[in-house]
Amino acid sequence: MDELPKFSSRAFLAPMAGVSDAALRLVCKEMGAGLVMTELTNIHAIIAKEKQLTAQRKQIDDFIEFSELERPHSIQLFGSDINAIKKAAQIVEPFFDTIDYNMGCPAPHITQQMAGGALLQNLDLTRKIFHALVSSVKKPVTLKMRTGIDNPTRFIEVAKAAEAEGLQMITLHARTVNQGYSGRSNWDLIRQLKDAIGIPVVGNGDITSPELARQMIEQTNCDYVMVGRGAAGNPFLFRQINDYLSTGTYQQCLPKNQLEMFGRYAEYAQNFKIRFASIKQQAMRFTKGLVGGATLRSKIMLAKTIAELKTIMVEIP
Ligand SMILES: Cc1cc2nc3c(=O)[nH]c(=O)nc-3n(C[C@H](O)[C@H](O)[C@H](O)COP(=O)(O)O)c2cc1C
Repeated sequence: MDELPKFSSRAFLAPMAGVSDAALRLVCKEMGAGLVMTELTNIHAIIAKEKQLTAQRKQIDDFIEFSELERPHSIQLFGSDINAIKKAAQIVEPFFDTIDYNMGCPAPHITQQMAGGALLQNLDLTRKIFHALVSSVKKPVTLKMRTGIDNPTRFIEVAKAAEAEGLQMITLHARTVNQGYSGRSNWDLIRQLKDAIGIPVVGNGDITSPELARQMIEQTNCDYVMVGRGAAGNPFLFRQINDYLSTGTYQQCLPKNQLEMFGRYAEYAQNFKIRFASIKQQAMRFTKGLVGGATLRSKIMLAKTIAELKTIMVEIP
């Protein structure tokens, strides 16, 4: 089994369906994210798509967008059919540096298939899934999980099973599935996980500033931190976290930096098949917290092309 790649920084970008598209991942990478990951991807969709693409002499990157510049990068899979897991993992393995498995998604359309966070209640099946993944690919397999369904009772057991089966890193979003995004991520549980297993632990939940990144590392002893919503519309945060962790200071993100980040995002987005509506949503996120952001957002709403968006997003109102 291959080893984990070397990560250039301790701060990773969280997978976020509909948000962490290939263009955002590239900007975050440029700003210093140590690892980026696709959003959760359905194992059955990968298999179905691969058949179609092979017939058209195309490859899986026609379906799951990514670029070589993201490396090291990961693909996140979900689904619980053992044969399909093996097959999907083998299809994507040549294109990614690590394969992550989702055991955290709280969305009913995922949990109803006994996938995502629902698996936290099924240790037997979970073990089989871990075994299937690790035995079918050579690339490192990692896990992203929550702490439990409605209370944090089983996550250590699940994590130990993952380690025993050969998974190489575990990210803990320290909320239960039923919590959704409410309340706080319970960082004490990240500490408990770190104390219980020997493989690297990635702490996740509620990091929105360099100070909070450092606080999580100090409080939990986690090896890496993963940032989701705090980095949406704000890839500059990765530079700030890296600077703060290494020097104790960091540069403020000025409105012009924020808009420049969107400019980069828009350049990259043109090279992918990202829907224009989604690019507009990203533009909205990049105006978060800006004085005059509301004015920008009302202009973004009316934009019809990426070129128009780029023009709107250069002027600080
Ligand atoms: C819009 C959105 C989409 C998400 N999609 C995924 C996903 O595809 N896979 C996953 O493991 N977690 C997903 N998450 C959870 C995040 O990866 C992360 O665990 C969570 O947001 C907590 O981190 P944060 O407080 O830094 O945002 C998503 C979160 C959001 C807000």
